Amino acid sequence: MAAEPVAKRLVVLVSGSGTNLQALLDAVAAEGVAAYGARIVAVGADRGDIEGLARAERAGIPTFVCRVKDFAAREEWDAALAEAVAAHEPDLVVSAGFMKVVGKEFLARYGGRFVNTHPALLPSFPGAHGVRDALAYGVKVTGCTVHFVDDGVDTGPIIAQGVVEVRDEDDESALHERIKEVERRLLVEVVGRLARNGHRIEGRKVVIQ
Ligand code: GRF
Repeated sequence: MAAEPVAKRLVVLVSGSGTNLQALLDAVAAEGVAAYGARIVAVGADRGDIEGLARAERAGIPTFVCRVKDFAAREEWDAALAEAVAAHEPDLVVSAGFMKVVGKEFLARYGGRFVNTHPALLPSFPGAHGVRDALAYGVKVTGCTVHFVDDGVDTGPIIAQGVVEVRDEDDESALHERIKEVERRLLVEVVGRLARNGHRIEGRKVVIQ
């Protein structure tokens, strides 16, 4: 008899409301760990007192906070974050609205298995204001991108993208909410496929087996 595949361990990083985290929590709960292929073993943040951490606590998942301002240098914060994540022995790390750029130490450990979701169609509109910048540019379609993190800002290999039409009456918040509906579904789908099937990265191409 073939052995049951072992569910992958996910650490999710958040900075805000955590609705993408909630979508992952709900998917694991609804489908079951074995069918989804992964479980969330910890949730980390760069700040305390956020809804993202409260969501993890309500789900009974361990949390940790690693604040840049508690360290003398950015590299020390980066090493501490990498260490805090490593304590939970993840197979994949997911940045679900984590608003910090990680450094060398973190990428040395998690490069190629650190997934981010960005609310624009990369390579257009990288950075912290992807929705605002797309709207200001006047694009007619935008969306979200799930990608692996490299040492640039939103420049890593793309795993999947979802498209959202811009409406004439959109402001940043209305557009972002519609993007997030697509983003949550895409993130759940992509993380599940990575966990169940494994992947390889060939240059800029991500191949999910
Ligand atoms: C998402 O749109 C993510 O792409 C962006 O911030 C938002 C996070 O939303 N970086 P939430 O905290 O998951 O609700």
